[in-house]
Amino acid sequence: MNMRVQPLLAGVDRAWLMAEAGARPRRNRLVLEYDTRRFPFAAALTRDVYKVQRLDRLHLYLRQHYLERGRPARLRPRDNLLLSDMMERQPATADFWTLYHAFMLQVLAPLVGRGISYTSHPKLRVHLAGTPSVSSFHHDICVTERIDQVNFWMPFTDVEAGAALWLESDYGSADYSPVSLRYGQVLIFDGGYLGHGSMRNDSERTRVSLDMRFSYKKATTRAEGVALLDHLAGILAPDSVSEGVPT
Ligand SMILES: [Fe+2]
Repeated sequence: MNMRVQPLLAGVDRAWLMAEAGARPRRNRLVLEYDTRRFPFAAALTRDVYKVQRLDRLHLYLRQHYLERGRPARLRPRDNLLLSDMMERQPATADFWTLYHAFMLQVLAPLVGRGISYTSHPKLRVHLAGTPSVSSFHHDICVTERIDQVNFWMPFTDVEAGAALWLESDYGSADYSPVSLRYGQVLIFDGGYLGHGSMRNDSERTRVSLDMRFSYKKATTRAEGVALLDHLAGILAPDSVSEGVPT
């Protein structure tokens, strides 16, 4: 399932962007696997935030909630924001945040092998089944200007097709395809320079996910970002990279 979405990137000088990307990392994406019994993020969210059995069925629960109150059951883009806000409102002492920081200290930092900087308050997102894109296609450096950072994208539901993050296969190729992941996998990718975004969630699953960026501590250069990706590629069995399922 490849889709060219060049018009969505209007206004970005892609030639400049590709020149800025400079030397390429060995892999522009990697998959990190972890034990969800040790880091039960989804269980914390179902218990403490949504009070439901399954996160990937949030669209069904929400429709039922609206129907019971005599309201239209059609889900709208703002429903994604409402549900995301519920996660964001968790207090700093919530189990979910404890798990997040434990993951950074016990999994990501040892993997990186030296000091890291990471986002203390990552973005939490919901993309309900049947709702439009929640993120137009973009390159993070156009917003952050942080050329040293690497992207970290962690779903708490299995994701494929419209529920997934869509990435271009190579810098500037604009041949976007979904990256299928299971709960228990994290996508690490070169999101500063590699275009990414979402499409309409035409899958049967709602996606709940976290995204943030990290870097070597005190890093400032693109070369340090590339070195970080190369270091991780040397550890994370590059053959495990999921490229999405062509249809
Ligand atoms: Fe992004």
